[in-house]
Amino acid sequence: MKHSVDLVMAARPNFMKVAPLYHALSRENAWCNLRIVHTGQHYDANMSHAFLRDLKLPEPHVHLGVGSGTHAEQTAGVMLAYERACLAHRPDWVVVVGDVNSTVACALAASKLDIGVAHLEAGLRSGDRTMPEEKNRVLTDALADLLWTPSPDADANLAREGIPASRIARVGNIMIDSLEMVRSSIEGAAKPAALGLQPGQYAVVTLHRPSNVDEPNMLSRLTGVLRRLASRLPIVFPVHPRTRARLEGNGMWNELSAAPGLKIVEPESYIGFMSLVFGAAYVLTDSGGVQEETTYLGIPCLTMRSTTERPITVTEGSNRLVTVESVEDSVNEALSGRWQRGRVPDLWDGRAAKRIVNSLRETIGV
Ligand code: UD1
Repeated sequence: MKHSVDLVMAARPNFMKVAPLYHALSRENAWCNLRIVHTGQHYDANMSHAFLRDLKLPEPHVHLGVGSGTHAEQTAGVMLAYERACLAHRPDWVVVVGDVNSTVACALAASKLDIGVAHLEAGLRSGDRTMPEEKNRVLTDALADLLWTPSPDADANLAREGIPASRIARVGNIMIDSLEMVRSSIEGAAKPAALGLQPGQYAVVTLHRPSNVDEPNMLSRLTGVLRRLASRLPIVFPVHPRTRARLEGNGMWNELSAAPGLKIVEPESYIGFMSLVFGAAYVLTDSGGVQEETTYLGIPCLTMRSTTERPITVTEGSNRLVTVESVEDSVNEALSGRWQRGRVPDLWDGRAAKRIVNSLRETIGV
């Protein structure tokens, strides 16, 4: 008897977690009927389609088409649509990844139908309950029947929340599988050259968290920092739609896009973005995934947040938390070569998808 498995993807950071698992599970067709579900949380070509193409993902089998909205609208919209999809074609298991609104929405809809829920990238905690993603992480992990973690800190967080060890499997970091899967395309992409930049002679910035971009005073201070930093070393800044909307809404867009040394570009595809990161002297970010990718590559990462749900990137890797006050000193350190290079954490080895398939087979008994 075949077991049917839904793989859910929704937003930009999900695609590089789903892709290696999709490719690994596709080879298990003796026992697994695989269906890709796209909730539509991210819908722009450069926030979604470009990632499917880069990561060799097929057109999703099911499109929920939910789109943007308030948190409740988006979460409830995904729940309603995914429940209908499950009633029309009931999977045995659903795999949700990461911490976006669609992750918790699909986990809850499936769990109420007594469908097995597996959470990939379980156990990460920033400890900051004001982050929408932290609420999504805690709720998804409470619902999940099978929790796949990337690092020992995640196992410890789950134990502290009373989740039985029998449900937890440490599988490592799936993002590294994606990176290694398309490494040669990344190395061949020559994105920096296309922007007139020399490897090692520029920085990459990404900022989109509500805590950085939703409050006009913080956003204004950040734009000041970016203008000063770009006057020292060119910066490439692929701007997220949320950030662009806030910059335009607060009348900061024109001044920032005209700043000397600052290249504001559209959100990049996965391969284009990683090609920029590969050659960066440092990266300034508030993304979760970028903290991990830079740790893997040993590139100085300055994270503009007061907490991280990925502490191993600070304790073992090349990541450091910074503030608007401290960031310029940290950039000086990064550029002077006095930055910790760190080491690659255990099980961040490009073989996470294989371990996940083994864990799923063991749980299902095939
Ligand atoms: C979401 C995730 C966040 C993740 C981020 C990466 C949640 C709670 N947050 O935040 O964890 O780091 O994605 O991108 O799920 N928009 C577009 N085009 C798109 C997608 C969004 O224009 O393709 C606009 C929306 O209309 C909205 C804004 O961007 O105005 C925010 O989108 P949304 O998906 O709600 O949250 P993100 O801020 O992207």
